[in-house]
Amino acid sequence: MFSGNVNEALNNHDMRHMARKRLPKWLFEFVDRGTEDEVALRNNRAAFERIKLKTQVLIDVSKRNQEITLFGKKHGMPLGIAPTGPAGMLWYKGELELARAAKAANIPFTLATGSQTSMEEVAKLVGGTLWFQLYMWSDVSMSHILVDRAKNAGFEALVVTLDGPVGTNREYNIRNGYTVPFRYTRKNTAAVLAKPGWLLNVIMRYWMSGGMPTRANYPEGMTEKFTHVSTAERKTKNDSLSWDDLSVLRDMWPGKLLVKGILTPRDAERAIERGVDGIIVSNHGGRNFDSSMAPIEALAPIVDAVGSRTTVIVDSGFRRGSDVVKALAIGAKLVMVGRTTLWGTTVGGEAGAARAINFYREEISRTLAYLGCRNISDLSRDCLEQVMTPHLPLTM
Ligand SMILES: Cc1cc2nc3c(=O)[nH]c(=O)nc-3n(C[C@H](O)[C@H](O)[C@H](O)COP(=O)(O)O)c2cc1C
Repeated sequence: MFSGNVNEALNNHDMRHMARKRLPKWLFEFVDRGTEDEVALRNNRAAFERIKLKTQVLIDVSKRNQEITLFGKKHGMPLGIAPTGPAGMLWYKGELELARAAKAANIPFTLATGSQTSMEEVAKLVGGTLWFQLYMWSDVSMSHILVDRAKNAGFEALVVTLDGPVGTNREYNIRNGYTVPFRYTRKNTAAVLAKPGWLLNVIMRYWMSGGMPTRANYPEGMTEKFTHVSTAERKTKNDSLSWDDLSVLRDMWPGKLLVKGILTPRDAERAIERGVDGIIVSNHGGRNFDSSMAPIEALAPIVDAVGSRTTVIVDSGFRRGSDVVKALAIGAKLVMVGRTTLWGTTVGGEAGAARAINFYREEISRTLAYLGCRNISDLSRDCLEQVMTPHLPLTM
């Protein structure tokens, strides 16, 4: 097994460069890039750079603690793993590796609907704080099968992703020959052959243990190979869904119900009316709608509007511990990350994911010290030089 020397990475940017060296171009770019002109992707990062933090000196910060309590449960740090489809394509059974790293750090792990390892397997072999991400299909009965399975497997929260009413427009995937269904072309095959380590250690291992990975959570009979368009996939067109469909899920799901992809106070209010326990302010890491706001900029008005009526979580573009601290100071209770821990998983399985998480831990700790804060609960808007509002002009 290639383990890669994850210790060579000094931050999550290094991890990204190492992941790029391991993966075929079409797969690396599928993970890494945004949509259309990648404005949202760039703006997610640029928005962090515009927010400054206020330091405080001569405060005893020798004992710093970043534990948080979320939904009544203690966690090791204010970070969670966002749902992402392809971890199992980056490393053999990558979801298990990522979930193990999350468990070891005592942080929530969210398994995506489209992942290659089944929810039952993750629950049985790993455990920890497990959340399940649900895509609602236009045939909602198919989604309900997954909800029942997640309940039976003991998942604590259901994360319903709402920011994809129609398919995305990721033109680079087409240019790279990464289409669904996957067709072997000279270009994408050459990209695979250029990465024999990935071919040998990920794809060959699947072949040797029964064949190419499938979308293991799709309902019975629909778990076709990752590279195929499945019957379920064809039914994912969900532009006819409404808030009433969320109410049905609320009635079905006894655990915590979160909605992902909220960017305005208006939608946050609607979600609260339907009884959610939390909202995830997210633009899908800039992967879906290229004119979307940066979640870090959308956060303050949403936190102000919802007050203590729901738990506000945020993701998209968080690469450093200081980014996480900015969101917590604005009022988020947890930050979720997608790509960084995928890069870590690519480079070193569980060890790589753990190192990616640890960068955040060390950087959050260092940032707390500069701010004169000992605990996460010490963070507030007083720490911010400027709370961004979406109305300020962009200076890109
Ligand atoms: C490769 C990839 C696949 C993703 N798949 C899903 C998914 O299946 N469901 C979902 O709700 N979000 C998905 N996301 C979005 C993440 O949950 C999260 O919102 C985003 O990655 C956060 O931005 P970041 O990558 O900059 O941390 C995916 C993101 C990436 C990078």
